Amino acid sequence: MKLAVIVGSTRVNRRSLKEGKWVLAYAKSMKDVDAKLVDLADYPMPFFNEPISPRFNNERQIDPGAKKWLEEVESYDAYVFVTPEYNHSVPGELKNAIDYITWEIDRKPAAVVSHGTVGGARAIMHLKEILSESRAVVIPTQVTFMGVSEGLDEEGNLSQDILAGHYNPEVSLKAMLEELKWYSDALSTARNK
Ligand SMILES: Cc1cc2nc3c(=O)[nH]c(=O)nc-3n(C[C@H](O)[C@H](O)[C@H](O)COP(=O)(O)O)c2cc1C
Repeated sequence: MKLAVIVGSTRVNRRSLKEGKWVLAYAKSMKDVDAKLVDLADYPMPFFNEPISPRFNNERQIDPGAKKWLEEVESYDAYVFVTPEYNHSVPGELKNAIDYITWEIDRKPAAVVSHGTVGGARAIMHLKEILSESRAVVIPTQVTFMGVSEGLDEEGNLSQDILAGHYNPEVSLKAMLEELKWYSDALSTARNK
């Protein structure tokens, strides 16, 4: 499975980056997984302003920044989108980047990992719908991480408190990534037929 772990917040001091590193480290420990961090901050692009839906635009003129993002996205078999919750939804920059997507994630599996005051649960619900409409196969298992500020260090390592505590989010992460791998293998086989 060639996996992109997409960091969905671009602001200064974003916590999504360390959450993305946490996801990446676990993914890299798995067999037959080639995982990479894809940081949205490395793909600056304007607000989407194409004349019609890009899916139906045969004469599409793509902004160079968005083109780079789309080429990167297309090169993977599977995705983990890491998102915070902003006003009960996803950050505008993440929604904007997804609005550029046409067939790059078609019939490929996508999973969602979030954080926020209540673990980003409301952002996750929105993001699952958005990704489904964007043609991805959204898998059922998700990870909501509460207390990510203290729970992860800057390199994405879990704190001792979390490791010793009642709820270890890595249990959910493991289940989610194993499920993603299952879908990725099945869908890659089907797409290649
Ligand atoms: C503009 C904005 C809106 C937010 N709205 C919510 C919200 O509706 N619910 C919530 O639980 N947290 C909310 N938060 C808190 C963020 O989820 C939290 O600060 C998170 O760490 C932001 O992710 P980031 O650091 O990766 O950008 C909001 C934060 C910002 C900056």
